[in-house]
Amino acid sequence: MIRPRLGWSLPRVFAHRCGGALAPENTLAGLRIAARLGRKAVEFDVMLSADGSPWLIHDETLERTTDGTGRVSETSDSALSVLDAGVRQHPAFAGEPLPTLASAARLCRQLGLLANVEIKPAAGLEAATGAVVARCVRELWAGAELPLLSSFSEVALAAAREVAPELPLGSLFEHPPEDWLERVNRVAALSLHCDADSLDDHLLRTARANGIPVLCYTVNEPLAAAALFRRGVMAVFSDRIDRVGED
Ligand code: G3P
Ligand code: MG
Repeated sequence: MIRPRLGWSLPRVFAHRCGGALAPENTLAGLRIAARLGRKAVEFDVMLSADGSPWLIHDETLERTTDGTGRVSETSDSALSVLDAGVRQHPAFAGEPLPTLASAARLCRQLGLLANVEIKPAAGLEAATGAVVARCVRELWAGAELPLLSSFSEVALAAAREVAPELPLGSLFEHPPEDWLERVNRVAALSLHCDADSLDDHLLRTARANGIPVLCYTVNEPLAAAALFRRGVMAVFSDRIDRVGED
């Protein structure tokens, strides 16, 4: 199987959930802050609404990051479109909308931000989410640098691969299993993404021997990032884009 490559070289740092800790997570305000700080790339999470549309949000439920209640997958587009995704972080961000994938794509393109779109399916909606996100990403980034799509869900990745074989994929693991390489190869993923705490040098050697870049989350200390880069990690996801990594 052909392993689609990125059309861009990996930057050292991806702003985690758009703007890291400096803005409400997964918001357009976060994208603007990332760009203002000179960051080249962002990561954000995408989940489907009850209408099957892709929205930027991390949790399956609305309570932690918005002023809404209930499950994202059971909430309509019209109900999501009036939620406040800023006020939970700080009143200064009140009125910040919950972004659709379309609005995030538009702003990333405007600001020249490269993207890692993390497919974040609600339980039971893995294949549908992978397919919808891949189809939308292909359309929304047409003619621009294509994002890297990643997911903890292999079902979502396989569905994305089927719908849009040209998109580069990243296999995400909290703790990479023994057979991680086989799993990466099964979906022809370009990269391995994992928790920085579960990294070991054997994994890094195997990844290097197979030409697979390793990306780690969530790294908020400059010295920790530097140590990971020395060990061979290619990029980190960070909440402290004011402190970690000059590209
Ligand atoms: O994609 C890297 C990282 O975002 C994965 O963890 O829970 O922050 O989406 P999470
Ligand atoms: Mg994420």
